[in-house]
Amino acid sequence: MNIFVTGATGGLGTALLPALAAAGHTVTALARNPRALPELPGLTGLPGDLLDPDCYAASLTGHDAVLHLAALTHARNAALYHRANVATTADLLAACRSHCPDARFLLVSTRAVGATCGAYGQSKAEAETLVRQAGLPWVIVRPAEVYGVGRGEAIAALARTCAKGGLLPLPGRGRHILAPVHIDDLLPAIVTALTAPAALGHTYTLAGPDPVSFTDLADAIASHHGKRLFKIPIPLPLLSLAAFLAGRLLRRPPLVGDQIARLTCPKATDSSAARADLGFAPRRLDISAMFPGC
Ligand SMILES: NC(=O)c1ccc[n+]([C@@H]2O[C@H](COP(=O)([O-])OP(=O)(O)OC[C@H]3O[C@@H](n4cnc5c(N)ncnc54)[C@H](OP(=O)(O)O)[C@@H]3O)[C@@H](O)[C@H]2O)c1
Repeated sequence: MNIFVTGATGGLGTALLPALAAAGHTVTALARNPRALPELPGLTGLPGDLLDPDCYAASLTGHDAVLHLAALTHARNAALYHRANVATTADLLAACRSHCPDARFLLVSTRAVGATCGAYGQSKAEAETLVRQAGLPWVIVRPAEVYGVGRGEAIAALARTCAKGGLLPLPGRGRHILAPVHIDDLLPAIVTALTAPAALGHTYTLAGPDPVSFTDLADAIASHHGKRLFKIPIPLPLLSLAAFLAGRLLRRPPLVGDQIARLTCPKATDSSAARADLGFAPRRLDISAMFPGC
């Protein structure tokens, strides 16, 4: 199949490209920096920015599927998330209607979706609604926290911190639930979602099989390394205020305001539909795989 991919230079996209090539797909990857794309059989880089639909719209012609991974995942305000995640999705859908109306549109959303998950979650919910209402064949997948990518993902950062032991500030009491999913289990499900007939018109949660609280995961990582953690609960309103101020005062804030809501909002953990339709078979939580390259 011919697949048009956005976000191919990101953490998930970089891992997905070889999986698409291995499945025999030909890929056009829209990228702001095509030089960041790997050399792979069947892969062509298309220089361009989703904010400028004229640069890519006509190139959609002849594609059988559009895999929309691109997103802004950390921003200082809701307007930036809206522009990057909602407006660009609307433009891409309009371009698909004009140039490849029969192509399957696969949106990679998130489990942290909806207004309770902050501005990022709200923008992903709005993008999902646009996809469902676009009049195109569609599938939406909602991955949980991905690990094993090794490129700055949140779980890797937590793992690095906890592996050293010592002081760990906890958001609230750290009771919010994560469901980490290994990248190698996520990729086949996404590749299958591009073609599986049963997937059309469905939204799938792709979560790991072992939901775990933030605090228990932190302890498990530390104990895996023979270390102990001294956890300091930070009240969520205080943490939100700190993130807000950091966003205002620092050029590269360690935390952006909506990350607290994103981390602590309730999220779905039931991946049974993806197991049935996409052959999703996530491995048990594997702490040792949270340190790729070590
Ligand atoms: N990683 C996770 O744990 C996780 C979990 C759940 C859901 N997701 C979702 O999975 C998708 C991919 O996540 P990720 O972790 O791979 O994100 P990422 O590493 O931040 O990559 C984002 C990608 O989007 C591209 N992009 C952003 N704005 C663009 C624009 N205006 N024009 C063209 N390209 C643009 C970036 O291009 P540049 O390289 O040029 O910046 C990059 O390739 C996202 O939709 C995210 O919401 C990720």
